[in-house]
Amino acid sequence: MSRKPIIAGNWKMNLLQSQAKEVFEGVKDFCKDYTAQELPTVVIAPVFTSISAVESVKCDCGCGGKKISIAGQNCHWENSGAYTGEISVEMLKDAGCDYVIIGHSERRQYFSETDEMINKKAKAILAGGLIPIICCGETLEQRESGVTDSWISGQIKAALEGISSEDVAKSVIAYEPIWAIGTGKTCDSDEANRVIAMIRNTVKEVAGAEAADSIRILYGGSVKPNTIAEQMSKSDIDGALVGGASLKAESFNEIIANTMKVAVNA
Ligand code: 13P
Repeated sequence: MSRKPIIAGNWKMNLLQSQAKEVFEGVKDFCKDYTAQELPTVVIAPVFTSISAVESVKCDCGCGGKKISIAGQNCHWENSGAYTGEISVEMLKDAGCDYVIIGHSERRQYFSETDEMINKKAKAILAGGLIPIICCGETLEQRESGVTDSWISGQIKAALEGISSEDVAKSVIAYEPIWAIGTGKTCDSDEANRVIAMIRNTVKEVAGAEAADSIRILYGGSVKPNTIAEQMSKSDIDGALVGGASLKAESFNEIIANTMKVAVNA
């Protein structure tokens, strides 16, 4: 089965509205020379206050703004209510988002996001017609003590609990080893591919072969223009969740370009 690659930029807590617009326009300018078919699925996750700024300059080449999709960096599982500081799936959809990143290690670490919350968020996102990008990954300590696979398969099973195979199939998972995030220490691509194949096997266990075959699983952690080609050449890596290198259009575009050189299947 051929899976269309995804290159997603997670801007984290960076870029003011004018800066966000500028980077987005730079990516749009690059994408205009390619058809949506030629491009990987390109996703950008700005801070909430910049979503409407980038939405306002979304691609107008006739692709219906679909060449570059927008993602929220988090959401709540309720539609509305007394949850100060939170944002719902409906609100993200209303603002123009198609994807929502959940379970990022920074949210798990600094904001006490639990597997149970991630599962509720995934269900709410899918019920709202958006696509969750579910993050998982191990600490250096866990890797060194040999529990990487059991830890990650546990995170995946918990996140997908009670979700139909059909919904699992359209979801996205991002494997982001915590020790590789923002450190410049990219995970060896054979090892990243091994873990991602293990994740796919876990998906097969909980949602069946078809879902495992369809679900797109990304690698994240110090992805740069010069690392992506090798990563994309691996059997199970379907794309990348990019942090630092997505903050400049030049490096993000280079990552998209190098992805297209290796494999855009669908
Ligand atoms: P870096 O690409 O900066 O390592 O960040 C990865 C990440 O956390 C993306 O979600």
